[in-house]
Amino acid sequence: MIELHDVYFTPRGQRILEGISLRIAGGELFAIMGASGAGKSTILRLMNGLIKPDRGSIMVDGEDITGFSEQQLAPIRRKLGMVFQSAALFDSLTVAENVGFAWRKAKISRDEYLQRVKQTLEIVGLENVEHRMPAELSGGMRKRVGLARAIAMNPEALLYDEPTAGLDPVTSNRILDLIIDLRNRLAVTSVMVTHDLQAAFAAADRVALLYDGRLAFIGTVDEMRNTTDPLIRRFVTGGQVMDAG
Ligand SMILES: Nc1ncnc2c1ncn2[C@@H]1O[C@H](COP(=O)(O)OP(=O)(O)O)[C@@H](O)[C@H]1O
Ligand SMILES: [Mg+2]
Repeated sequence: MIELHDVYFTPRGQRILEGISLRIAGGELFAIMGASGAGKSTILRLMNGLIKPDRGSIMVDGEDITGFSEQQLAPIRRKLGMVFQSAALFDSLTVAENVGFAWRKAKISRDEYLQRVKQTLEIVGLENVEHRMPAELSGGMRKRVGLARAIAMNPEALLYDEPTAGLDPVTSNRILDLIIDLRNRLAVTSVMVTHDLQAAFAAADRVALLYDGRLAFIGTVDEMRNTTDPLIRRFVTGGQVMDAG
């Protein structure tokens, strides 16, 4: 579904990503871990064409999008729902207007619009918040609304940037359960980037570790738990992602 082939991202000679190759299958829940500043968000932005690699190629659904124009990228971005770290809601719009943003120009009645918004909010476990403003919601609820807005586009894949960052453990687990549940119910390919090892191990089918601009590991959660590679062992037993230093 999403493939990176020997991707380099080296703005002004800075070595951010160097030779990243990975292949995420349709319906898979794939987690990319790495310390802060490792390049995790950069990988998501490369996947939906917000930035271009300096070398290598990116394939989405069998199409090489590397050289795509903004116009060609529009349908690709509809396939890939981005769930931003900050939820990135429109603060001056209600929850309903945020969730229904993709349908604002669709020729549907007000009633149908509200019905669809309600159904989409139900998927993420929210009720009776349609008329509230984003500022009136908790951090966990804002994340859910951001997720509902992405689901509303009916995407083939969801790309989550640090879905559990800044949340308390209970809310964090709820969001992870939701990510797993969405993958299972909607069969949506899911890519999650996180600095949280526990979150990645709890949710993902396969995981990768970004370290010093490269993928130091790629495999199943069990393969990572049982690896004998000293660098990866240090990371797994330490419970958090170390800096390349
Ligand atoms: N367009 C860009 N131009 C220059 N540097 C960038 C650009 N995008 C990201 N970076 C740098 O790349 C590094 C990785 O950023 P990022 O992908 O946001 O890391 P992470 O999400 O893992 O915390 C940072 O040092 C950041 O400053
Ligand atoms: Mg980031």
